[in-house]
Amino acid sequence: MKSSNIIAGIDIGSSKVAFVIGKINEGLIEVLAVSSAQNSGLKKGIVNDIEDCLSSISSALEQAEKKAGAPIDKAVIGVGGAHIITTLSKGIIAISKPNGQIDPSDVKRVIEAARAVALPPNQEIIHVIPRQFIVDGQSGVKDPLGMTGIRLEAEVMIIGGSTNALRNLEKCVSQSGLSVNNFVFNGLGGSNTLLNKKQKEVGVLLLDIGASTTTLTVWEDGDLVHANILAIGSNHVTNDIAIGLKTSLEVAEQVKIQFAGCKLGESLKTKIDLKKIDPREDQKVERELIDEICEARMKEIFDHAREELKKIQKDGMLPAGVVLSGGGSLVRGAVALAKDELHLPVQMGYPVLEISGEIELLDQPQFHTATGLMLEGLDDSYQNKNTFSFNFGSLNTRDLNSYLGKIKGFFKQLLP
Ligand SMILES: Nc1ncnc2c1ncn2[C@@H]1O[C@H](COP(=O)(O)OP(=O)(O)OP(=O)(O)O)[C@@H](O)[C@H]1O
Ligand SMILES: [Mg+2]
Repeated sequence: MKSSNIIAGIDIGSSKVAFVIGKINEGLIEVLAVSSAQNSGLKKGIVNDIEDCLSSISSALEQAEKKAGAPIDKAVIGVGGAHIITTLSKGIIAISKPNGQIDPSDVKRVIEAARAVALPPNQEIIHVIPRQFIVDGQSGVKDPLGMTGIRLEAEVMIIGGSTNALRNLEKCVSQSGLSVNNFVFNGLGGSNTLLNKKQKEVGVLLLDIGASTTTLTVWEDGDLVHANILAIGSNHVTNDIAIGLKTSLEVAEQVKIQFAGCKLGESLKTKIDLKKIDPREDQKVERELIDEICEARMKEIFDHAREELKKIQKDGMLPAGVVLSGGGSLVRGAVALAKDELHLPVQMGYPVLEISGEIELLDQPQFHTATGLMLEGLDDSYQNKNTFSFNFGSLNTRDLNSYLGKIKGFFKQLLP
């Protein structure tokens, strides 16, 4: 028997596949299982080996089903990678009703008009996220429902991705026996888990330093104002250490995880005996050298992030600062270095949600995105049961519904 109210959030990352399985239990989010498996089927966040990716998904799925004690049939799939694009678009419609009152069908029509944007060839829309509505020239309207007017405009952010990349991801997932509930941009998944309402209101950057990509998601006034994926991640630190120490990638990875740091200000004359990591090694390496290599690459990542903030005139201007996520942020000293480079308050990301069940692993960065993806799926089932009678067709209902505030209070985000 399939358990249709159970949903999986799956983060198919360049280093691992992470599953978070949950359901709504008496109005609260309950996590039933968390699992992960190494993944080598992606390059720069894009599937480049379907077999490898499928085998990672299958392995994490098997563990998750065993832990949950129930079969899983549908999943929200995270999308990241260098193929993601964002663009702003605008739609305009006339309100045709005699009383001029804006109803859900008008909102749907104006969003449809805004989504009619020419994307580059072989790209398709993943999200249409309304930023503001304009009613008869009055801008800054967050919820136009019930207002009266003759002209309704919508400004939306469109997040798109390569059709081929999405189909390959879909193939991996469906071959594992799961059906794709929907695709969700990884940055939105992570934001669901790690950012509270106040941070999104005053301005915040979520910086997810993954294995081969770094995902930026910037929020202000409660809206997503910028998103980008940089083709640089923590594997670059590993690669630099391998080259710098003339050692294997496996040893370099262990050196990074166990010893590397940035901005530590410690006495670094101690030597690391690589033999302890791999008996075939015969070098002793100064910590100072390891940290120099690590710091240079981490600095480059933060410098790129700062460039992104400059592009949107937010350099040094986000009062809620930077929230770090992704395995790459675990390198020691990352927070201090990010503060120096970005000139903003910086903190490690921790889930801001009230969740019950199997929560022990959820504060580990590799599960932050998958948790938020799962929430998107629960969000849908919650809406179907509780709130919505109208259908947004091909739109991602979550974007519109959450924008309109229809699910207020569903995510019990904890304000600081
Ligand atoms: N304790 C640690 N210290 C430093 N780096 C770490 C640590 N733990 C994990 N990492 C690094 O984090 C990276 C994996 O992070 P994450 O799971 O967020 O990536 P991913 O989601 O698979 O990749 P991507 O988002 O780029 O597709 C790897 O490069 C790994 O070496
Ligand atoms: Mg990732």
